[in-house]
Amino acid sequence: MARRRVAILISGRGSNMTALIEAARDPAYPAEIVLVASNRAEAPGLDRARSEGIATAVVEHSAFGKDRAAFENALQSVLETHRVELICLAGFMRLLTTGFVTRWQNRMLNIHPALLPAFKGLHTHERALAEGVTEHGATVHFVVPDMDAGPIVAQGAVPVMANDTPETLGARVLAVEHRIYPQALKLLAEGRLHVEGEICRVDAPEARKQEAR
Ligand code: GAR
Repeated sequence: MARRRVAILISGRGSNMTALIEAARDPAYPAEIVLVASNRAEAPGLDRARSEGIATAVVEHSAFGKDRAAFENALQSVLETHRVELICLAGFMRLLTTGFVTRWQNRMLNIHPALLPAFKGLHTHERALAEGVTEHGATVHFVVPDMDAGPIVAQGAVPVMANDTPETLGARVLAVEHRIYPQALKLLAEGRLHVEGEICRVDAPEARKQEAR
């Protein structure tokens, strides 16, 4: 089966991007990374993607001022040029309009450094420590118009230790992010995710085999 064509959108260092690129090096992985796009020309992840031989694009939001739709139209045309089928947001720090999100409905994933629906938004590790939770983690979810919401595809939890700082806790969560994002993209690319209302269900591989008979 043809591998699904994936774009990763970044704004910064791109460590989740790198985890996805590394997973997709395996020819048996059902997705290939055909494009890394950033809204910031200075995003360090761009160099990493280039060094991997992956096409990159910069669509700077600042060039469009407050016109989010114009920024997204430019992004959409880059995605179309590369015949992108699926999108992974990986530290992409721009809110997307309902129009763009609807266009990519059930085809766009995001990773968030918390166990959603807890700790939406920024500074999740600081807030988890301030609340005294004993478990924290990361979530991969489908993107919907509301920020840090949408059907949950995968989660990974880590313990919060008594002596944790935002940095130590963040590093523990990041290791989980790098594990669950490639797993989630694999399921999406295999067509094993089904969104029913607010819930994402995962087909068992066995069920798929039966369908294929
Ligand atoms: C990651 O921790 C990701 O979960 C977070 O930004 C970081 C990007 O790191 N995303 C969000 O907070 C989105 N709401 P990376 O560039 O090294 O992948």
